[in-house]
Amino acid sequence: MNDKNEHPSVNDGDLESLSADEEKLLDELGLFGAARRQFLGQTLASGLGIFALQLLAKEKALAAMTSPDAVLAQNAASGDAIQVTMRINGSTQILTVDPRTVLLDALRERLGLTGTKKGCDQGQCGACTVIVDGRRVLSCLTLLASCEGKEVTTIEGLANGAGLHPMQAAFIKHDAFQCGYCTPGQICSAVALLREAEAGEASYVTRNLRTITKDLELSDEEIRERMSGNLCRCGAYPGIVAAIREVQSGRQTAQAWHFATQEEIAAVMNDKLLREGRSDETV
Ligand code: FES
Ligand code: FES
Repeated sequence: MNDKNEHPSVNDGDLESLSADEEKLLDELGLFGAARRQFLGQTLASGLGIFALQLLAKEKALAAMTSPDAVLAQNAASGDAIQVTMRINGSTQILTVDPRTVLLDALRERLGLTGTKKGCDQGQCGACTVIVDGRRVLSCLTLLASCEGKEVTTIEGLANGAGLHPMQAAFIKHDAFQCGYCTPGQICSAVALLREAEAGEASYVTRNLRTITKDLELSDEEIRERMSGNLCRCGAYPGIVAAIREVQSGRQTAQAWHFATQEEIAAVMNDKLLREGRSDETV
């Protein structure tokens, strides 16, 4: 029995009508002759067609990729793996890693500290901000090797048991987030910013560098500038600035929102009824 009879749903016309891309995909998958007829017969019969081909090609490409663990194993065998000892959120951690490992991947993939978020992975969004020896860093651009002997604090290490860090509490109070993806980075950045203000460090918008002192009280302009490396796609900036201002100044900051009172709801409803000429129905 020839190939054609074994797979009657695939004829020579089907094979000849394959596009150049489809031919290339089948070649890359190593499907020739009978194997090609059989595969096409199965995919056509199941109605999957070229979609299945593309999925299969992707699967094959993924399978061909070397896993991070395999790379590490190779490096360990060749003596390239390095050992890094540091303190993370108060506990000593010793990690054996590929020398190219960045702090962000070590935190998330090796230590399960997924509070630190991967946004752009190229130093542009601030979602991965953590605190190293008291200063804020972008963990996606920080080699783990450079953290040897250092103290790393992530969002998981800010709370004191069940008690939130004052900055965390202020973010909740001022509704300083929406989806929350940027929030761990925003909070770590804001906590480190407090120390920068305490030390009297200048920013791009500091007006007079000669008169700068320690224990600065930051204006909204200063807070916005100093937090400009942390992007929020939900646009929660007014709440973020209010939360930082409150913690930094130590004074209560007016909330930017509140639940509407009964009187306010009634006023809005009455206004609407009046505009609709239904004054007799006001509440
Ligand atoms: S993930 Fe690091 S800056 Fe965006
Ligand atoms: S809260 Fe959604 S990105 Fe900032």
